[in-house]
Amino acid sequence: MTYVEEYGRWKTDPEAFWKEKAQEVHWFKSPNNICKEDKEGLTHWFADGELNTCYLALDYHVENGRGEQAALIYDSPVTNTKRTYSYNELLSAVSRTAGMLEGLGVRKGDTVIIYMPMIPEAAMAMLACARIGAIHSVVFGGFAAPELASRIDDAKPKVILSASCGIEIDKIIEYKPLLDSAINLSEHKPESCVILQREQATANMSAGRDIDWHEAASKAHKTSPMRLSGEDPLYILYTSGTTGKPKGVVRENGGHAVAMKYSISAIYGLKPGDTFLTASDIGWVVGHSYIVYAPLLAGCTTIFYEGKPIMTPDAGSFWRLIEDYKVNALFSAPTAFRAIRKEDPHGLFIKQYDIRSLRQVFAAGERLDPPTQEWMRSKIGVDVIDNWWQTETGWPIAANMAGIEKLPIKLGSATKPMPGFHVEILDDEGQRVENGVQGNVAIKLPLPPGCLTTLWNDNERFKSAYLSDYQGYYTSGDGGYFDDEDYLYVMGRVDDVINIAGHRLSTGDFEEVLGKHESVAECAVVAMADELKGEVPIGFVVLSSKGSYLSPNSLLVLSNELRQLIRDEIGAIACYKRTLIVSRLPKTRSGKILRKTMKQILNKQEYVVPPTIEDFTVLEEILHVVSADREIG
Ligand code: COA
Ligand code: AMP
Repeated sequence: MTYVEEYGRWKTDPEAFWKEKAQEVHWFKSPNNICKEDKEGLTHWFADGELNTCYLALDYHVENGRGEQAALIYDSPVTNTKRTYSYNELLSAVSRTAGMLEGLGVRKGDTVIIYMPMIPEAAMAMLACARIGAIHSVVFGGFAAPELASRIDDAKPKVILSASCGIEIDKIIEYKPLLDSAINLSEHKPESCVILQREQATANMSAGRDIDWHEAASKAHKTSPMRLSGEDPLYILYTSGTTGKPKGVVRENGGHAVAMKYSISAIYGLKPGDTFLTASDIGWVVGHSYIVYAPLLAGCTTIFYEGKPIMTPDAGSFWRLIEDYKVNALFSAPTAFRAIRKEDPHGLFIKQYDIRSLRQVFAAGERLDPPTQEWMRSKIGVDVIDNWWQTETGWPIAANMAGIEKLPIKLGSATKPMPGFHVEILDDEGQRVENGVQGNVAIKLPLPPGCLTTLWNDNERFKSAYLSDYQGYYTSGDGGYFDDEDYLYVMGRVDDVINIAGHRLSTGDFEEVLGKHESVAECAVVAMADELKGEVPIGFVVLSSKGSYLSPNSLLVLSNELRQLIRDEIGAIACYKRTLIVSRLPKTRSGKILRKTMKQILNKQEYVVPPTIEDFTVLEEILHVVSADREIG
């Protein structure tokens, strides 16, 4: 089978294509209704099929002779722990965790927030929810209390599952004070919080609300998987939009299971029994899809790594994991590979390990820059494949299909659209542009199985954020182009989303937080290119009357206060370090801040003074402030 044949088969008859792919999943009741549009115009795949995602990830393999195979290998250099869970063991632990949730009154359709570090219990929690039809929402452990609070208010969880701490290289990050503070801030209060006490920190428990995980799980009964419909939601995953309010992406069981099974073999080239190392975090979509669900649905072994690409203890960590566990495919973010390259430019660590089991490396989360791609390929000796997707889609929109036909790699390109995704480049008026011309990357509706069906409790926001720019298309928010051989190049966001070390954040969120400071009258946050992290945020601040007479020393204090404010309100992962003071922000006559122009100036790119600008002299000040800051370094 070639890529052209596979893509062509989908294009000729999408429903027949997905019906065939659905046969790879063991349904309790096979679906007949392949693609349904509901009264609201939302698409649901396999709505009348019956299945259980946890059953497919665990019980099914135990019933089919994989019980003794390693399902999940926990490797934690930060705690010096290694532990392998066979499919039998993982099933047993998950059914008990599900029993614990049932004991707390969690039922089908209830929501559960999981705010946990990269420990196996986090995966168990996700699968346990899936087992009983509860809808999980994992919140990345690096988010500060207010971010967690806004997710609690939106998802309204019955129960929150958490741990006493996470470990960042050698720093203990206590989660419980963050959780308590988030619950204080939120209007919605969960009925209970289950806390896993780790030996590195002991959490103080609130009587009547907090429950000790080990104690509760040891008393819990084991639970059977529930029959769910294809359109029952599996999870909500919040992602940043252009405003401060996160968007709760909803993913349904049926489409998700089919997309995971299809993509892990067709795109990542993995088969049952293979070992997959996805070095990310369960707080992100990459972690949901390719640390937890897809490898387990496919009967693979997944590596659950609680560590960093460097510093735990060195730039050889990934290669050590590959040797230790005979890893067949590695998946991480380009920023991780850049960090390794910076530490080990000659690839000396790579030579210390036997990595012959590795068939290919995959990168996503941001564009894989050509120098990193080339460096990786030359040092590791296997193909390094970029794949473009988003929290919303759950699996790659464009990639190189390692399991079908690997096309020649073009540096800087995510290769070609995957079956299910009809990608077009549109200009701002919604007209298709020619190959070679850059524009907005849009996807013709309907979106394929596995993609978001709506935003949690907000169909209107789903439609206005994604479906209203161009009639009949989903707007990705990314800009890019096709070359003359139909290879897709995705060059970056065209909206106010910023991508810091593969972490997607909203500049609007930053601005809301900075605006809380009494010395800030107005501000705009824009992304500056960064060698390691891809992008970092820079704040342009107009001082209020409170701040307008500040001395240089006090300005330094202000800058540090703003930095701390962002850490406290968004989290350290925001990497906010620099504030530039300006007297005015460039705006259009209707008052819209010209962030795009500011970003171009900041990144020394060519820019055209927008004709709608209120006063072009403002740009001179921006240019001046940016150049002065560059001189300071
Ligand atoms: N919990 C709490 N804090 C966290 C955290 C977590 N889960 N993850 C990161 N942080 C903190 C870090 O401790 C650091 O804090 P500091 O400023 O006090 O030192 C800050 O957030 C920035 O962390 P990070 O982005 O990890 O930068 P770094 O310079 O420490 O490390 C890399 C650089 C490249 C190693 C790191 O960015 C990395 O591993 N990136 C991969 C990202 C990824 O997997 N993305 C998933 C999308 S596919
Ligand atoms: P997230 O939803 O956090 O996974 O972020 C998705 C966004 O990250 C996309 O909209 C892109 O802007 C960016 N992105 C992810 N992968 C790639 C890639 N391979 N190439 C270019 N941009 C990417």
